[in-house]
Amino acid sequence: MKLLEPIVSRRSIRKFKDEPVTDEQVELLLRAAHLAPSGSNTQPSNYIVVRSEEVRRKVMEVSHEQKWMMQAPVFIVCVADLGVRIKEGELPAIDEESPLPELKLILRDATIGVDHLVLQAAHMGLGTCWVAWFKNADIRPVLGIPDNQYVVAVIPVGVPDQSPKPRPRKDFDSMVYKEKWGER
Ligand SMILES: Cc1cc2nc3c(=O)[nH]c(=O)nc-3n(C[C@H](O)[C@H](O)[C@H](O)COP(=O)(O)O)c2cc1C
Repeated sequence: MKLLEPIVSRRSIRKFKDEPVTDEQVELLLRAAHLAPSGSNTQPSNYIVVRSEEVRRKVMEVSHEQKWMMQAPVFIVCVADLGVRIKEGELPAIDEESPLPELKLILRDATIGVDHLVLQAAHMGLGTCWVAWFKNADIRPVLGIPDNQYVVAVIPVGVPDQSPKPRPRKDFDSMVYKEKWGER
């Protein structure tokens, strides 16, 4: 048995070729995300496909001006619907500091879809990088996202123009316990 190839080969890509990503390719990424599991099958995720240079630039600017993002012809903005666990009238203003317990569950579920998406991209030879260095209060208005939605990540997608070495991971054995916490 071998590990799935995209799990091994995926890297965060921050340099892209000036080549297009087709609508068909984007649809495959979204179909992979669509199949993600979620707690109680709540399926909180929605995605905004952004191709417009003007809008990508605004998203880049609220993402701490990470200029490399602009090389990617498509951004997939991953948005979690807080309404899957919280009734409309009971929604307080949700931001990164919110202690709301449901937010943790919704974010947990939404990130699974993003991982499906980036692994499918790696499988197709496309490059991606998670971007989550923004504040919801800044990115929501750029995309017209209402306050009952939470932006989990922006994924720039493009044809990679770099092959980074694997980034270090902590020692494998150090993260595995047997039967009980602390026992190896
Ligand atoms: C939730 C999350 C947020 C991230 N945000 C950013 C970001 O804003 N900008 C960036 O350049 N990389 C970002 N990254 C990429 C990480 O730096 C990268 O995954 C990590 O260094 C490991 O490298 P690898 O993805 O190539 O294995 C983010 C990754 C995750 C999972």
